[in-house]
Amino acid sequence: MNKNNKKPKSGVKLYKKPQNKFKSAENQAGENESVRLNRYLASSGICSRRKADEYIAAGLVKVNGTTVTKMGVCVTPTDKVEFDGKLIKNEKKQYILLNKPKGYITTTDDPFERKTVMVLVSNACRERIFPVGRLDRNTTGLLLFTNDGELAKKLTHPGYKIRKVYYAYLDHNLKPADQKKLSEGIELDDGMIRPDLVSFVKADDRKLVSVELHSGKYHVVKRMFESLDYQVVRLDRVAFAGLTKKDIPRGKWRALSEKEVAFLKMLR
Ligand code: URA
Repeated sequence: MNKNNKKPKSGVKLYKKPQNKFKSAENQAGENESVRLNRYLASSGICSRRKADEYIAAGLVKVNGTTVTKMGVCVTPTDKVEFDGKLIKNEKKQYILLNKPKGYITTTDDPFERKTVMVLVSNACRERIFPVGRLDRNTTGLLLFTNDGELAKKLTHPGYKIRKVYYAYLDHNLKPADQKKLSEGIELDDGMIRPDLVSFVKADDRKLVSVELHSGKYHVVKRMFESLDYQVVRLDRVAFAGLTKKDIPRGKWRALSEKEVAFLKMLR
């Protein structure tokens, strides 16, 4: 302790929140809601945070009508942020988990007017949400929707290795030798896929196989089995990034809790 009864300086620099010259009278109360401009742009789905810094430096971003090129500026919910001349909507972030039934395609808009997953979550919130990744038309199970572009990007990026578990119902019993091949890895046209675990859901049913993997490649589970001459008759995603179907009947959805959202944001 020094003579002022203060702890000696440890050499650790405290983070000083940058001065926010855009703070208006009414948003001073909501100061703790302020976020850095690059994060704000990234979470609205426009780009990554790094790219946002480039756009800011290039003079493409305005806050309350003023072009901002300085790094570290913070904005609050009442600030008007424009990117490339367009106002960015400052929406509440929504996270909706659907237990998808068969027969719906994963797209926000289908030119052939087939049933899309969007109709199943149309009453979930007012914000425009979109599916994170995709499930085939006849695949059932967990599909997350959000308007948080930053989180969606992370959950679909191969580098983050988000864990998924599928139950695949096959047209004939999986032979032990093929189970071994799957576990050791299968070479597909677009690279090697090595599931983390290939096991049976029930001890007495070799047609119902649980596949745990991190890949989000197109038709990955069906292609793995087809390469060994099995057809996947039914496919159900039972776990996605630690979330399960518990308490979500088929065709229904629920909003994620704050704790679940925080957990997803922490995933590395
Ligand atoms: N793998 C598939 O083959 N289909 C899906 O829908 C998801 C993973």
